[in-house]
Amino acid sequence: MTKTVTSLRSARWFAPDDLRSSGHRARMMQMGYDEKDWGRKPIIAILNTWSDLNSCHAHFKQRVEDVKRGVLQGGGFPVELPAQSLSETYLKPTSMLYRNLLAMEAEELLRAHPVDGVVLMGGCDKTTPGLVMGALSAGLPMIFLPAGPMLRGNYKGEMLGSGSDAWKYWDERRAGTISEEQWTGVEEGIARSYGHCMTFGTASTMTAIAESLGLTLPGASSIPAADANHIRMSTRCGRRIVAMVLEDLTPDRIVTAKAVDNAVAVAMATGCSTNAVVHLIAMARRAGVPLTLDDLDRAGRSIPVIANIRPSGKKYLMEDFYYAGGLRALMAEMKSMLHLDAMTVSGVPLGETLEGAEIYNGDVIRPLSDPIYHEGSLAVLKGNLAPDGCVIKPAACDERLLVHQGPALVFDSYPAMKAAVEDENLDVTPDHVLVLRNAGPKGAPGMPEWGMLPMPRKLLKQGYRDMLRLSDARMSGTSYGACILHVAPESHIGGPLALLRTGDIIRVDVPNRSIDMLIDEATLVARRAAWVAPADKYERGYGWMFSKHILQANEGCDFDFLQRDFGAAAGEPAI
Ligand code: FES
Ligand code: MG
Repeated sequence: MTKTVTSLRSARWFAPDDLRSSGHRARMMQMGYDEKDWGRKPIIAILNTWSDLNSCHAHFKQRVEDVKRGVLQGGGFPVELPAQSLSETYLKPTSMLYRNLLAMEAEELLRAHPVDGVVLMGGCDKTTPGLVMGALSAGLPMIFLPAGPMLRGNYKGEMLGSGSDAWKYWDERRAGTISEEQWTGVEEGIARSYGHCMTFGTASTMTAIAESLGLTLPGASSIPAADANHIRMSTRCGRRIVAMVLEDLTPDRIVTAKAVDNAVAVAMATGCSTNAVVHLIAMARRAGVPLTLDDLDRAGRSIPVIANIRPSGKKYLMEDFYYAGGLRALMAEMKSMLHLDAMTVSGVPLGETLEGAEIYNGDVIRPLSDPIYHEGSLAVLKGNLAPDGCVIKPAACDERLLVHQGPALVFDSYPAMKAAVEDENLDVTPDHVLVLRNAGPKGAPGMPEWGMLPMPRKLLKQGYRDMLRLSDARMSGTSYGACILHVAPESHIGGPLALLRTGDIIRVDVPNRSIDMLIDEATLVARRAAWVAPADKYERGYGWMFSKHILQANEGCDFDFLQRDFGAAAGEPAI
């Protein structure tokens, strides 16, 4: 142990014999605590992202009590600090607008309060990167408690997956192949318990990333929220963080370049959400690891997808993944691709936490020798349409579209695009490339999950279920299809996407990683000269600040002033 109770950070608030500290002690007593409760003990913050409007975190109201029990057992004193919840399903225009706000809130909650370590309670998409980014910048010992996936969906005996099956059945409803009654059945059966989305969407991707970064207890991210093992894991988090404080096991010893490498590899092997790209880059940079799109593309080329979980996989959901051995079993299978000496919150290297891990169902977690896809979790394309890159998930799209050339059909706003795709007389063919712009980090703003542009009704009725789609938006991790996303620089700041017009020919070649508009240079120069920058949407408040400071997708969409090298950290509170 490298910390003694008198050298604890919180002792600066409570130990001195002065008026200010006396006030701190008096106010603890006001809450009914004796010095015996908190004195000379690690004080553990629990950042709880519970809210009445976050169905994925509904159990956090109870789970926080389980964490507190663990902290008390471990000899610490727990303090619950509520942090904004970022409910993926309800926040408009998009939860991504608020990821950095949560990161700032987490960092400042930890900096300002008398706490020595923290348990981060998150899971619904943006809560994981938001909490981790903030806590990395704060630098106190931290452990991440994943919310856990909800139970499998069910409709008349058929397994339903979060998001993915909603999109699928909605298209069938638009095509007129299912009744309103069947649709209602899907609505009633798709989310049956608390917990985050149970496909390998953004939530499962990000909690798996947290685990492979070494920030959770072994196996924590795979436990379904409704399983009693989740309760016991929560209590273990409480016990463990107290020990971490005394060991002074800070995140800079855990989230290293090796850990980031591990997280990238695991993300690829799970057929991760495209959102992982933005969040991984942002989290890595907070930890001082300069991860780039090219690093991610390299990993996408060499690492096979071995988790057979929808939407990249064919059949299974997170509950099946847990029963098949979960993330520990998956990591054990890909040991040869991981840095096993990377440190974890358990206080031992990753390799040790994987000992004894077994695969119980080889169809859910495939052997490296028989993957779902040999490569193709993610690919980064570059060219005159996206000089700083864009992202596609080749594993999730119709193969005929991987090398494709076709005319653009361009929309400047989501409402205009949405109205057009319902028009059965729309001038569109399966070879068209549907384009949406002004949907990026600064333009939308917040880079909403609009990137799985709806298939035109006309094509759906002709039997088509996929076409090439292109935008500077993101898409949900539960989405699928030939969607090219995150075009950088975005059109709102004058990226080349802004110069594209309906009828221009776009050429995409995924194997060769290129994306171009076939327009001569002189025409592009003339169009650029005529281009007028659109106005920012917010004139005041947080949205205004967001627009002024948001970085592009290839840089992780952090705020410029939150980047590690922007300036010196504030350090500890002075008085
Ligand atoms: Fe919360 Fe999908 S809505 S994880
Ligand atoms: Mg999502």
